[in-house]
Amino acid sequence: MANEMWGGRFAEGPAAIMQEINASISFDKRLADQDIRGSIAQAEMLSAQGIIDAQSAEAIIQGLKNVKAEIDAGSFTFKASLEDIHMNVEARLAEIVGKPAGRLHTARSRNDQVATDFRLYVRDSIDMIDAALKDLQQALAEKALTHAGTVMPGFTHLQSAQPVTFGHHLMAYVEMLSRDRGRFADARRRLNECPLGAAALAGTSFPIDRDRTAKALGFDRPTANSLDSVSDRDFALETLAAVSILAMHLSRFAEEIVIWTSAQFAFVKLSDKFTTGSSIMPQKRNPDAAELVRAKTGRIFGSLIGLLTVMKGLTLAYAKDMQEDKEQTFDALDSIALCIASTAGMVRDMEPDAKRLKKAASSGYATATDLADWLVRVLNMPFREAHHVTGRIVGIASAKGVDLEKLSLGEMQAVEPRITGAIFDVLGVTNSVKSRTSYGGTAPANVRMQAKKWLAKLAK
Ligand code: ARG
Repeated sequence: MANEMWGGRFAEGPAAIMQEINASISFDKRLADQDIRGSIAQAEMLSAQGIIDAQSAEAIIQGLKNVKAEIDAGSFTFKASLEDIHMNVEARLAEIVGKPAGRLHTARSRNDQVATDFRLYVRDSIDMIDAALKDLQQALAEKALTHAGTVMPGFTHLQSAQPVTFGHHLMAYVEMLSRDRGRFADARRRLNECPLGAAALAGTSFPIDRDRTAKALGFDRPTANSLDSVSDRDFALETLAAVSILAMHLSRFAEEIVIWTSAQFAFVKLSDKFTTGSSIMPQKRNPDAAELVRAKTGRIFGSLIGLLTVMKGLTLAYAKDMQEDKEQTFDALDSIALCIASTAGMVRDMEPDAKRLKKAASSGYATATDLADWLVRVLNMPFREAHHVTGRIVGIASAKGVDLEKLSLGEMQAVEPRITGAIFDVLGVTNSVKSRTSYGGTAPANVRMQAKKWLAKLAK
């Protein structure tokens, strides 16, 4: 049987395999809500412009609401023979309201329709991501405030570098997420133009009011070029790029959680809520959620590269290739939502082991820079020379197998006679972090201030 929506010049229906490759309903049914919102805006506008009569418009709008109710209730039957969400909705509308339904598809095409639906979907997703990111920032800043003074080793090259605080480390992610939110907001601003009314590619001869439909759907304005309107998927690409950078950030934190929860580090503990056991090794508590956050980055990057590749080299205007924009975008958006929520859960759940962190911070001569800085500050030694003197003192401590603060004054004076007992004030890790008061530094007072500033901002 020929397609009931567009089969006028077709004698036969499609081959089974043609339907299978062509139909998108299995995945674009997720656009049902956006599709119906778009159609209601279209019907209202057509009526206001006198393009269709008010009675038909009313019947259409009521019918669309009924279709939406059926979909929400799960009683709607999606048909692959009707290809996609647009034709499934319209066909059901015709069954419900009869003839007037045929007037809905005036001055539009599935090309501008799908572009509109997909923009609305991506925009809705951006709004949800932003709310979830805000929640994650809140979780991080709260934990950071609690642990503003919890000393831990700071790393470069994953080698003990200088002591920092646990709160400071968490606040680093608050900053990253704030840039992520900026990227989403930026993408949303450019996304927020309405393609509806571009029709198939050339615009329409009907006296439509594109400002009206744009406004009704919450867009800032209509898109300016009809060809671009139906060909553009930048909004999805930009969003996937922002999702990818965010996923990269979350994967770094996830990796740290995996390392921190290992028995060898044991910096933090996750409760049973965020770990799993092993079926053979009873001692195991695996940080599966963190591992999966780390891993989902792969499919998210894949979605970005996948869609870029679909769009590459496509001539204007619409081509069916563009139907391949949805699944990977949906998958990336689903994945990132899971990743953000799981990370927030782990942050709230995690308990740092303050004693162990402090001990780890004290080993590895992490206050060597403090010693060198003291020599510069108090003895007015050039930093390069101080670096050298400190290196020799570290060598002595290392040979003895003790921390810097465990050396006697005499042992240090053997290297540099002008060193006094005051040196011990800077050799402990607590004093070390306390002294890092430069703007953006790890001093607990700084961290407390930053965390409070963020919490106040996020509460607004
Ligand atoms: N299902 C199609 C898509 O997702 C809708 C647009 C179809 N347009 C067309 N000219 N066949 O892209």
